[in-house]
Order: sequence, then C-alpha cells, then structure tokens
Amino acid sequence: MATVLVTGGNGYIGSHTVISLFESGYDVVIADNLANSKMEVQKRLKTICGRDFKFYKVDCCDEKALSVVFEENRIDSVIHFAGLKAVGESVRIPLDYYSNNIGSAITVCKLMKKYGVKNLVFSSSATVYGMSEDVPFTEESPVGICTNPYGWTKWMIEQILRDFAVSEPSMKICLLRYFNPVGAHESGLIGEDPRGIPNNLFPYISKVAGGTLEKLTVFGDDYDTPDGTCLRDYIHVVDLAEGHVKAIQYLDSHDAGVCLFNLGTGKGTSVKEAIAAFEKACGHPINHVFGDRRPGDIAVCYASTEKAEKDLGFKARYNIDDMCSSCWKWQTMNPEGLADD
Ligand code: NAD
Ligand code: UFG
Repeated sequence: MATVLVTGGNGYIGSHTVISLFESGYDVVIADNLANSKMEVQKRLKTICGRDFKFYKVDCCDEKALSVVFEENRIDSVIHFAGLKAVGESVRIPLDYYSNNIGSAITVCKLMKKYGVKNLVFSSSATVYGMSEDVPFTEESPVGICTNPYGWTKWMIEQILRDFAVSEPSMKICLLRYFNPVGAHESGLIGEDPRGIPNNLFPYISKVAGGTLEKLTVFGDDYDTPDGTCLRDYIHVVDLAEGHVKAIQYLDSHDAGVCLFNLGTGKGTSVKEAIAAFEKACGHPINHVFGDRRPGDIAVCYASTEKAEKDLGFKARYNIDDMCSSCWKWQTMNPEGLADD
C-alpha cells in the first residue's frame, strides 16, 4: 500500500483529502503543527474512516523535526497543504506568511530530496491569476500581479518548485490551483472551522444562517455581472479532495517534471445566487445587507476545467445546492465549531 505524507492534513482541505486517500486504498501519515486546526479533527477522522492515522505534531519549517517523519515512515508521495491562508492577516503579518509558507515548502523539498521521495502535490490557488478577469482562467493564462502577501507566497512557491524540478530531473511535481473550496463531509463531522469571525463567504453565511452572526454584508452589488455581485467558482471540498487522489495517480503514471491543473467546476456563482442556494438548504431567509466593494476583489473568477478533465480525469460531481446543504449540516451539528484542544 503506497503511503502519502499529508502536511497540513489536520486542516480543512487536508482532512477531507485524508478520507479520499484512505477510500482509494492509500495509507496516510499526517504532519501538522495545529497552527490553524484542532486535535478533535483526528478523533473525527477516526470515526469516519474506522481507523487511526499516524499523526505528527510538527512544524514543517523545522527540518530536524520533520525529518523524523521521513525517517520513521516509507513515504511514497507528499501532498503539501501546510500553510497559512488568511488574505487579510497576510497583509498585517507578511513576514510570518513568507517564512511559514515558503519555509515549509523548501523544507519539504529538501527532505524529499534527502529521502528520495519523488512525488509532490502542492496546494496553489487561483489567486495567482491576479486581478485579471479574462475568464475562464486556463492553466496557460498569465499569472498576474498578486494583491496580497498570501497570493505572492503561492506564486513564489510555484516558481521554487519549478526550479527544484529542473535541478532534480527525477522529481514529479503537480501544482493544483484551487478555486473556492466550500462545503463539508457528508457525515457533518468535519468541515471548515475558522477561528473568530470568518472572512470568507460560506463560513460567514453559515454562521448567519445558524444565528451566531446577525447579518451578512454583501461586498458590492454594482459589479459588471448579471446581478451586480461577484462571481466565483465554488467547488465542493470533497470534489477537491478527490482531485488530489487523481493528482497522485497522475504522477504515478507519468514521466518526471512539473504539471499544473486548475481545480474548479468551471461555473461562476454570484453572491446573490449563493445566498439563495443557502436559503434553500437551511429553509429560512439569510439576513443580509448590501455594502461597499471589498478592496482587492475582482468581479469574476472561474476556471477552465478542460485540462483537468482531459489529462487528470477530474470532473467535479457536486453542485452549489450540494455545497450549501453539506455546509448547513456541518453548521447545525457543530454550531460553535470544534472544541479547543
Ligand atoms: P487550513 O488552515 O484549514 O489547513 C492548513 C493546515 O496546515 C492547518 O491544519 C495548519 O495547522 C497547518 N499548518 C500551517 N502551517 C504549518 C506548518 N508550518 N507546519 C505544519 N502545519 C502547518 O487551510 P485549508 O483551507 O485546508 O488550505 C490548505 C492549503 O490549501 C493551504 O496551503 C492553502 O493556502 C491552500 N488553499 C486554500 C484555499 C481555500 O480557500 N481554503 C484556496 C486555495 C488554496
Ligand atoms: N463576500 C461577501 N461578504 C462576505 C464575504 C465575502 O460579499 O462577508 C463576497 C466577496 O466579496 C467575494 C465572494 O463573496 O465576491 C467570495 O469571497 P471569499 O472571501 O469567500 O473568497 P475569495 O474569492 O475572495 O477568495 C478565496 C480565498 C483565497 C483564494 C481565492 C482564489 O479566500 O484564499 O479564493 O482561490 F486565493
């Protein structure tokens, strides 16, 4: 059984990916420093999968500590999720973002080289397309000027990985550019569990629907879009997780080098449409008001899914209604989020 090291595997996307890997017959080892997740996730993964996974509480920037994981396990592939991801926070503490995100990626690469591990999947983001609105974004669309330090870390790590692959011609690296991951596992046991007041649309709507927050502010309804609100490519986190399994399988069956795929649905959903879909899922109106545009937002962002469909064999299965109903189940089962450790 092949073993996948999942860095950041205790987080939102990582934990769903652990389940998909397990269901596809992989063994999993998790490395996470719990900077943005709670140990309760491990208990819940055990309930869902019926087994434990080896878990290391380790900072992926700490080469010595992370080397223990490589020393103690025969790792075949790495999926590197570990990183900080809050756009606004990255503007306030850019150095922490650069050192954590870039530092952890470099450390993972150094150890992969040292231990002869060839397959790497990296969590990149559609944010690297910058402020362009030349949709749909294809993998050939130019990477743009990023609008925040978080985005730049993704942009820079992509470049670092390309340079690494040139220097190590036997490396197989897959860059995955995610669009907007939302939703939760069908069990309602794991889902997105942000600390404090959420910044992103779906966690915010969920909390308004659940009564923890009073109202949602829609950031701008004067965009040049059909209903005036921004369009995004929301993708169910379970689909996204399955995209990672496809990426591992792709690396196993292809030659060395760097490959790149968008992971999205190819469909833009407006903020108004997202609210309406959530109202349908929860069965009551979502209190919302219209406010100013949020600085840095673009009007439209959605993926071309052609390359992922053709080469990776990946096609998202779930629609916006599925995303909303799974979010709502997660919210109602965990109104306060997960308990602190
Ligand atoms: P998350 O915060 O839920 O998960 C990240 C996990 O990494 C957390 O459990 C955190 O504790 C851990 N971590 C952070 N720094 C670490 C370090 N130095 N060492 C060990 N563990 C560390 O975030 P997520 O939404 O699951 O995102 C996973 C990855 O996908 C991130 O790299 C993120 O930038 C990227 N991504 C996320 C989105 C999104 O909208 N959620 C979009 C595009 C890309
Ligand atoms: N929005 C609101 N009100 C809110 C929150 C969001 O109207 O309270 C709107 C935003 O203006 C935007 C849409 O909902 O039009 C989606 O916003 P999110 O913050 O949920 O997502 P973004 O598209 O801004 O950003 C997300 C991730 C980034 C990632 C980017 C591209 O947060 O990390 O997708 O993948 F880089």
